[in-house]
Amino acid sequence: MLIWSKFLTALSVLGQLDRKQLFSGVLENISVPGGLPGLSIASPSTYDPDYYFHWVRDGAINIGTVVNFYTLTQDPHLQSLIEDYFVSSSQLQQTPNLSGGVGEPKFYVDGKAYNGNWGRPQNDGPALRAMVACKYANLYLKPDQITNLYENFISIDLDYIARSWALPSFDLWEELDGYHFFTILSQYGALKAGRIVAEWAGHNDQSVRYSNICEQMWKFISMNFLPGSRNTNEYVCEHFPCSLGSRIGLDAASVIGVLELLDLAQWTTESDGIDLPVKTDHPAVRATIDALIEDMSTRYPINAGKPGGVGRYPEDVYNGYASDVGNPWFICTASLVEALVLNGERERATPLMDFIIAHSGDTLSEQINRYTGYMQGANNLTWSYSAVLRAAKVYYD
Ligand code: NOJ
Ligand code: NOJ
Repeated sequence: MLIWSKFLTALSVLGQLDRKQLFSGVLENISVPGGLPGLSIASPSTYDPDYYFHWVRDGAINIGTVVNFYTLTQDPHLQSLIEDYFVSSSQLQQTPNLSGGVGEPKFYVDGKAYNGNWGRPQNDGPALRAMVACKYANLYLKPDQITNLYENFISIDLDYIARSWALPSFDLWEELDGYHFFTILSQYGALKAGRIVAEWAGHNDQSVRYSNICEQMWKFISMNFLPGSRNTNEYVCEHFPCSLGSRIGLDAASVIGVLELLDLAQWTTESDGIDLPVKTDHPAVRATIDALIEDMSTRYPINAGKPGGVGRYPEDVYNGYASDVGNPWFICTASLVEALVLNGERERATPLMDFIIAHSGDTLSEQINRYTGYMQGANNLTWSYSAVLRAAKVYYD
């Protein structure tokens, strides 16, 4: 029996899923047969939809879950998964692809480039990947290992970010080409962490360069996405310009971005004395949470006018297979639970947690049908397990 299972069996049961089972859902999708070690598939589904790929974004978030469990259990098996992930990801960094850089959104899990049509590049991927690597370096690596990981892996993602952050890219939902709060906030976190790691690795010139760019990024973020000059709403406007794709700009991505920044880059504040500029209790993030809950209570019939399942954004039409009508998602609902609990609003999180429990089975897919409450879209979505685990952690502990 693995060491961590002792910890986990004692933990509370979430509907039919306990946390051990949720974490198994993550582990089963990492280092799959025929795939590069340490890489995760988004879902085992190979058809309708085909999610049997390594998405750089999902992969970084999922390995972040493994890092958190490694912290909890010190299980050496988890440590080797994380180190495998760095080796395999560094192979992906070197693989020629249609984005022409490390912003390529997804690869076959054996490491080959995917050369079909896709929204590319997606520049949040390398940012999340660099952030998780810096977090791990800070927690577990010795100075010479940090230098090695920085020089051979982390600096490649950071250099790309430093060169391309002011260029448009596709958003995390892979639909809109432009500027996105989630993407730039992740890039900000990567360079903030990277500044520290570069200094440890003896690359002071790069360190100074990253911190100068962080300042420019922060100006861009406050001017374009936060309420004020260009965003006349109270909530975060996920896209710039705010009307991008005729959207109102309200998007669960804004909350998920803040949660990833907290999980992956909170440690930096102890090192550089600079607080994270946006957290879940920022008035604009609170307003985003409130507006999403309100919109979706009536948008999705299954919610019957009350807080419950949360989807990606009001105008969403992706039903998990094709364009039709959008639905609540596990990752969005779970992320709002996490943010509400962090903000001291556990009671408001309860109907959202109840929704997750009511509509999960032995597994978690991507979406929950807005009329019937049945799961739909890619089955066993790795990111769903990661997000629900994190919600369960703050909600039950
Ligand atoms: C697949 C993408 O992954 C999803 O986010 C998007 O909504 C649909 N394609 C439709 O473009
Ligand atoms: C569609 C989601 O929109 C996107 O964010 C995700 O990376 C892929 N599915 C894979 O899970």
